[in-house]
Amino acid sequence: MHLPIAVIGAGTMGNGIAHVFAQHGFGVTLIDVQAAQLEKALSIISKNMDRQVSKGLMSAADRTEALGRIILETELASGVKSASLVVEAATENTALKLDIFRKLDQHAPAGCILASNTSSISITRIAAATSRPGQVIGMHFMNPVPVMKLVEVINGYATEAAITQTIIGLCRQIGKISCVVNDYPGFIANRILMPMINEAIYSLFEGVAAVTEIDTVMKLGMAHPMGPLQLADFIGLDVCLSILGVLHEGFGNPKYAPCPLLAKMVTAGYLGVKSGEGFYTYDASGKLCEVSARFK
Ligand code: CAA
Repeated sequence: MHLPIAVIGAGTMGNGIAHVFAQHGFGVTLIDVQAAQLEKALSIISKNMDRQVSKGLMSAADRTEALGRIILETELASGVKSASLVVEAATENTALKLDIFRKLDQHAPAGCILASNTSSISITRIAAATSRPGQVIGMHFMNPVPVMKLVEVINGYATEAAITQTIIGLCRQIGKISCVVNDYPGFIANRILMPMINEAIYSLFEGVAAVTEIDTVMKLGMAHPMGPLQLADFIGLDVCLSILGVLHEGFGNPKYAPCPLLAKMVTAGYLGVKSGEGFYTYDASGKLCEVSARFK
């Protein structure tokens, strides 16, 4: 059975999540306050589906049908009124997410599961903003969503076991593999990933090695598809800094303190792919060009 899905936020993660649900037969309402952002998201989904068609992963007819299953909506209240699952993928900002979940609690039907794609904000805290914490859960997709197999499923303190089982089943239906984890700072993905990225930045900061060498060691030595510095640029240096802040504050352990170089780059607006420069430079389409002149 294909339950009606609503996705909040039409940024990179939101459009990827809408893409995979629509691709697997679900009707999706993609909701964003900005109509222009919704149009942009639909064109990105269309291009990413074209890529799948050209690779033979999807037929042209399936692509047309999948795109036809996506409805664009600027009003949260009307967008979620018949949803069985809402996946919130708005900006990673605690106050904003709490506000969205208060509104979802008001407007989503009883029985609707409320999921957040947060990469590090506490699911327990988000759930506590609603009158149905048992129905709130984390669904942490990885970027690029159409390619990455994992969904990290996060149980909040009050998440009901039946809700977790439903989400595991849904992940299977959209071709993903779920891993269920408990709600502690950074969950599992970012608790392990971010210290690695931070250590790579410290290695650069302390002059142990240059950008290319650090990334090549991890790519060729550990078979990572991207080195940690390129991955940090891909995720967004501001996002990395914010997640390290959550780990540092949440555990009170200095081992999570963000490298001063990371903090300085974010302050200066060097955020990686999205700003055109981080440890590397990028063209307007986000394609990697070369190591930033600052690190040569
Ligand atoms: N939609 C659909 N398909 C896409 C796509 C998209 N947005 N982006 C890439 N692809 C497809 C390509 O078509 C290609 O398909 P084939 O293998 O069939 O040819 C495949 O993905 C690989 O893409 P490319 O050839 O363009 O490039 P690549 O081989 O360099 O791979 C990559 C790109 C998949 C991003 C790879 O470099 C990679 O896996 N990087 C690591 C990504 C990662 O670690 N993501 C997690 C980040 S952490 C996170 O998201 C959570 C958080 O909280 C911070």
